[in-house]
Amino acid sequence: MRPGGALLALLASLLLLLLLRLLWCSTDAPASSRFLVEESREATHSTPAALRTLRSRATQPPHTTSSTYLNAKSLQPTERCQNLQDDLKALSNKTRKYSEDDYLQIITNIQSCPWKRQAEAYENFRAKLASCCDAVQNFIVSQNNTPVGTNMSYEVESKSEIQIRESIFDMLPVFQPFIGYPYNQCAVVGNGGILNQSLCGAEIDKSDFVFRCNLPPTTGNISNDVGSKTNLVTLNPSIIRLRYGNLKEKKAVFLEDIATYGDAFVLLPAFSFRANTAASFKVYYALKESNSRQKVLFFHPKYLKHLAVFWRTKGVTEYRLSSGLMIASVAVELCENVKLYGFWPFSKTGENTPVSHHYYDNKLPKRGFHEMPKEYRQILQLHVKGILQLQFSKCDTS
Ligand SMILES: *[C@@H]1O[C@H](CO)[C@@H](O)[C@H](O)[C@H]1NC(C)=O
Ligand SMILES: *[C@@H]1O[C@H](CO)[C@@H](O)[C@H](O)[C@H]1NC(C)=O
Ligand SMILES: *[C@@H]1O[C@H](CO)[C@@H](O)[C@H](O)[C@H]1NC(C)=O
Ligand SMILES: *[C@@H]1O[C@H](CO)[C@@H](O)[C@H](O)[C@H]1NC(C)=O
Repeated sequence: MRPGGALLALLASLLLLLLLRLLWCSTDAPASSRFLVEESREATHSTPAALRTLRSRATQPPHTTSSTYLNAKSLQPTERCQNLQDDLKALSNKTRKYSEDDYLQIITNIQSCPWKRQAEAYENFRAKLASCCDAVQNFIVSQNNTPVGTNMSYEVESKSEIQIRESIFDMLPVFQPFIGYPYNQCAVVGNGGILNQSLCGAEIDKSDFVFRCNLPPTTGNISNDVGSKTNLVTLNPSIIRLRYGNLKEKKAVFLEDIATYGDAFVLLPAFSFRANTAASFKVYYALKESNSRQKVLFFHPKYLKHLAVFWRTKGVTEYRLSSGLMIASVAVELCENVKLYGFWPFSKTGENTPVSHHYYDNKLPKRGFHEMPKEYRQILQLHVKGILQLQFSKCDTS
């Protein structure tokens, strides 16, 4: 094609885009207002039960005929907020590489809309998770779900099996140990640098159950931002190798660090890769021999496999889910209300200031924004649908 031809083609496609954009807006607006009108008309005739659902779905108080005018005025932000789901869907359809700025733009919009828990959406999602994965029964390996002699396949190296001998069986809790289930308010605390200076600590500590990932620091001044309460903390065996020298000379340091989590559960993916097993058992014995208050739990490989299938059907096709998404999924099943903190896979804040990868080191994301978007889009969708809540910025401490 000649240079002139390329320019023409570019202009033509720009024009087409503009046209599409206009079409999109003009068809959207009447549809949304029609929806509101129908909703208010229906509300006057419906049964109390239906009314309750309608009311919980609406972001505004129930409409009355006399207030229709007022509602029409305040409709614009509502409408914009109702379109958030479409904005997110459109992101997934882009064929070019995801850009941080696309996400940050949408997050800015999301933040400007009020968040409201949607009980019905929550129950539906929870039921779907329960039927695929059933965290309540299956999320950890217990004596109840794993009899002696079971040949258990690994999560990732699934051609390999490990036989649950008596000695392994004895390490397992008899039943799932979450005696407070269902918990009312749960916090899932990611390690994103966005937590630094967030002052979210007090709010996090007020939760009934606090999940954390990969043994993050929670003592000292940082606890103002991340809280100090922990009920469950995941531990990747690579940390045992890299930070604690396989619990040889650095075992005392490990025990000292782990003591800061009180009587939390320490959750290990012992049966995900064969190489994880020995390291995980070492943690179990180290804690047992020192009479530590923390209890070791093992992720059930079958649960993680089913969970991966669940998310794959929603387009999350990466090699393995992040512990953040695993734990957030568990929390939705174990808790009535879930709030996520420190989930921020971006290199800058919404206001364009650089943000470190973790709240406890100054590293910037190594490869930037790679596989995370697929997961993050799902999490944003859950937020927009009112199933769980994401904390994007500083916490309100007033
Ligand atoms: C995204 O693509 C799917 C098919 O791949 C289509 O059904 C859907 O309508 C598209 N969504 C948007 C918002 O463009
Ligand atoms: C587990 O595998 C071993 C050896 O491969 C076999 O002897 C045993 O019968 C299997 N146990 C069960 C419960 O399938
Ligand atoms: C921690 O906070 C105290 C006051 O609360 C302050 O005096 C101290 O300098 C802080 N330490 C660090 C390392 O920021
Ligand atoms: C946290 O924020 C403070 C103040 O802006 C900064 O000095 C510190 O380096 C930050 N820490 C990390 C790990 O980014």
